[in-house]
Amino acid sequence: MRILKSLAELRRWRQQQSEVALVPTMGNLHDGHLQLVKTALERCDNVVVSIFVNPMQFGANEDLDSYPRTLEADCQALDALGVSAVFTPQVSDVYPRGLDKQTRIEVPGISDILCGASRPGHFTGVATIVCKLFNMVQPQLAVFGEKDYQQLQVIRLMVQDLSLPVEVLGTATQRETSGLAMSSRNGYLSTEQKQQAAALYKTLEETKAKLSVNTDFGELEAAAKEKLTQAGFVPDYFSIRNAEDLQKATPEDPEWVILAAAFMGKTRLIDNLRVTNAAAK
Ligand code: PAF
Repeated sequence: MRILKSLAELRRWRQQQSEVALVPTMGNLHDGHLQLVKTALERCDNVVVSIFVNPMQFGANEDLDSYPRTLEADCQALDALGVSAVFTPQVSDVYPRGLDKQTRIEVPGISDILCGASRPGHFTGVATIVCKLFNMVQPQLAVFGEKDYQQLQVIRLMVQDLSLPVEVLGTATQRETSGLAMSSRNGYLSTEQKQQAAALYKTLEETKAKLSVNTDFGELEAAAKEKLTQAGFVPDYFSIRNAEDLQKATPEDPEWVILAAAFMGKTRLIDNLRVTNAAAK
């Protein structure tokens, strides 16, 4: 496995390859990431994993400095899976003119709701780095987790709007046996908080079950927030949306997604669940 530490090294390597699949990550890899890599390997022998903690997607008071960095262990796990290359550039290589002067990619409409409302600028940071990674790596295929559902939809819209020649593949969320979605930020939780945090997925599942008989979305959302509060969370949002554009759900939508963000202590967790509307024609 090659470890490509600069854009120049990546470009030299890329010239010798034909098809490439990309799995963009910020490192600290867990089984959820490794599943993305396995999915990419099923589709393409030549997989590149990028490991870059992207400063542009973190807010001023967020965990950029403390975000876990475990490059050596990450590379060992990726090598064992048969990944061709890891791309791990420096911030100065990715943003040579500095963050303030960097050209940005903005996907309107979807970027400032839900997580985008709580984390202003976050999705502009995500869209910008993903667009840059696509230009740097030039993959035919890129694989992302459905756990970050809003991120996935932002990236899909960006690819469509900018006519980027990349197939975007979303893969199912990997969960602990408790149902808790795997996330690098779970490492911030104590053992007790981890147990409590399983209530997030449980509440999504309960809401999904209720949706088959009740489409009073406001009532379901309020009940779910109450449940999360009782379980020790401070809810940020709990919202039932159209699965395509993430606008407020209507009883006619063919597919919904229930999205939730909530704080367990200082840790902000997100999760979601898709629901097919059996009543829609
Ligand atoms: O999901 C992530 O880990 C990041 O948001 C991504 C897509 C790698 C962009 O930095």
